[in-house]
Amino acid sequence: MTTRPTRPRRTTLAVPGSSQKMIDKARDLTADSLFLDLEDACAPAAKADGRKIIATSLNEGGFGAKTRTVRVNDWTTPWTYADVVEVVGNAGANLDCLMLPKTRNAGDVIALDLLLTQVEKAEGLEVGRIGLEIQIENAQGLLALEAIALASPRIETIVFGPADFMASIQMKTLVVGEQPPGYDVGDAYHHILMSILMVARAHDLQAIDGPYLAIKDLDGLRRVAQRSAALGFDGKWALHPNQIDALNEIYSPRQSDYDHAENILDAYAWHTSGAGGHRGAAMLGDEMIDEASRKMALVVSAKGRAAGM
Ligand code: GLV
Ligand code: MG
Repeated sequence: MTTRPTRPRRTTLAVPGSSQKMIDKARDLTADSLFLDLEDACAPAAKADGRKIIATSLNEGGFGAKTRTVRVNDWTTPWTYADVVEVVGNAGANLDCLMLPKTRNAGDVIALDLLLTQVEKAEGLEVGRIGLEIQIENAQGLLALEAIALASPRIETIVFGPADFMASIQMKTLVVGEQPPGYDVGDAYHHILMSILMVARAHDLQAIDGPYLAIKDLDGLRRVAQRSAALGFDGKWALHPNQIDALNEIYSPRQSDYDHAENILDAYAWHTSGAGGHRGAAMLGDEMIDEASRKMALVVSAKGRAAGM
């Protein structure tokens, strides 16, 4: 089985799979990754055409270094099978991941992995190269998170789907991504975000926050994105090109934090080396640094380097 690559995903741009115009526009945008959507942004009557448009567009290329994902429909629909067979069958070599929405349990993931494996074998593609992005969008999926994360070595990310999730738990609001009116004692999403983050980190997967639907409200987007970025999430979806720059910035370390992390790593390496007297803990300015500080600094440094700092 292929070793999974770690791909930058500060921003994942959602692109309706039935819109050639939007796919063409997405090619030049600065999102780290994008997904061509056969699910909720693609009307039932447009799904068959959407599969063809997606396969042709992937084969034409021009997406630069962006991760190319296709979101198939969930297993309760009549479309998932044909989504996989047609898109992977016709453009599997030019596709990085499939995204599975509304994942309920490990079986949903295993079924997709098996189908994908068959299509890869039938088409002579490298088996296991195509990864999976798993959306958690209902109470069942959240409760089965651990089993879901272990269900396939193809999984690269666990993705929070706030809109479907809010509907699934009957949250009393229609504004996706914002706190439900009347809930004024904290962040109504904290438990969900933390649960996803814990499972993602326990299994070496990326944790991705979902969409913020008020696309003109960049202040609102920043406020909500900063929360999941602060917890440790790797990135968030963009529904509109004007959200991309803010998200790339928010899910990268600040320059001052990146510089500080590099200083910690340098100072700690010196102090623990022969030259520095083999000390386990040392001072950097007013700050005590030790092996745990080094680990925290490594996280910031790695995210900074991935962001080109
Ligand atoms: C995304 O798919 C969502 O439901 O928020
Ligand atoms: Mg959804």
